Amino acid sequence: VRNIRWGIAGLGKISGRFVADLALVEGAMVVAVASRSLDRAKEFAQACGAERAYGSFAELAADPEVDAVYVGAPHTDHHPLTLLFLGHGKHVLCEKPLALDLAQVQEMVGLAKTKARFFMEALWTKFMPHFGALRQAVADGAIGELQSVQANFAFIPPFEPEKRVLNKALGGGALLDIGIYPIFLATTLLGRPANIHAQAVFGPTGVDTQCNMLLDFAQGQTAVLSCSLSYTSTLEAHIYGTQGYIKLHSPWHGQCPAISIFDDQRQLVKEMSFGTKGNGLYYEAQAVNDALQAGLLESSTMTHADSQLLMETMDRVREAAGIFYV
Ligand SMILES: NC(=O)c1ccc[n+]([C@@H]2O[C@H](COP(=O)([O-])OP(=O)(O)OC[C@H]3O[C@@H](n4cnc5c(N)ncnc54)[C@H](OP(=O)(O)O)[C@@H]3O)[C@@H](O)[C@H]2O)c1
Repeated sequence: VRNIRWGIAGLGKISGRFVADLALVEGAMVVAVASRSLDRAKEFAQACGAERAYGSFAELAADPEVDAVYVGAPHTDHHPLTLLFLGHGKHVLCEKPLALDLAQVQEMVGLAKTKARFFMEALWTKFMPHFGALRQAVADGAIGELQSVQANFAFIPPFEPEKRVLNKALGGGALLDIGIYPIFLATTLLGRPANIHAQAVFGPTGVDTQCNMLLDFAQGQTAVLSCSLSYTSTLEAHIYGTQGYIKLHSPWHGQCPAISIFDDQRQLVKEMSFGTKGNGLYYEAQAVNDALQAGLLESSTMTHADSQLLMETMDRVREAAGIFYV
């Protein structure tokens, strides 16, 4: 099987971690990188061994010897860059959140289908071993019938109003950046919420710095979710069922070291420990590379429908909480 030739668009923090993990993937090679700055691209290309460095995303899109592009730019660039690369016939793995709203996601999925190219949201958590173990335990009835998902994600970023996390013009705020993880956990385990209540608090740059969410589902289950950029949370998640509960240890969304299963008397029944290969992005990278080598157009683990449900739910949270972007 031939190597998949990768291009990287947007050369910030996550792209650095992604190329490090892509180096661990069999059958993958980074051949070209693109930045808004040619100097930055040259520096990044040298560090990761890519042959070609571009000072614009259009040049990367026009490179005939690139099969797939990883989009690691700020949220607001996900939609235009994905359309650019799909339009030039590249497969695309795009960072989370896939876009700013469902309308953009639909357009991206539509173009991927028209062009018959692979397209996926880089929701790394879904590919990690601890997450597979969690889903298996739930499916096996380890805690009986699922009743409630309770999860948080909060940290205090440095006060840098220009950088993407607090910058409204770059889609900043807690919900899209980190609230997406608790919402993803709830929709993965419980499906589409019937009703959503949400409340947000806004910080000095105008972005949501706290967002609290209450979801309920058709079978009477609930989710209690929170995200914030104004305090530090445990980064734990708990899944409650009729016969016990599961604790995902911190950081539950990423390099989660363990999951513990308790019975309805709060007694520990089982604990599973997990190591992490690379930075933890290895698992999604390997899965996408395998899918590309197999000629698939969609991942069976993180499907288009999964991303659509996730974004539709975030749109509903935004509406309930009054969160807008410019
Ligand atoms: N899966 C994960 O674990 C994970 C973790 C962190 C972030 N992410 C996602 O990945 C994306 C990037 O996050 P990051 O933390 O890597 O951000 P970052 O360090 O700020 O890097 C983003 C890069 O995008 C490029 N860019 C293009 N247009 C830009 C603009 N108008 N303003 C600023 N930068 C622009 C810049 O690269 P050039 O200067 O080279 O153009 C910048 O370095 C976000 O959507 C985030 O949600 C995912």
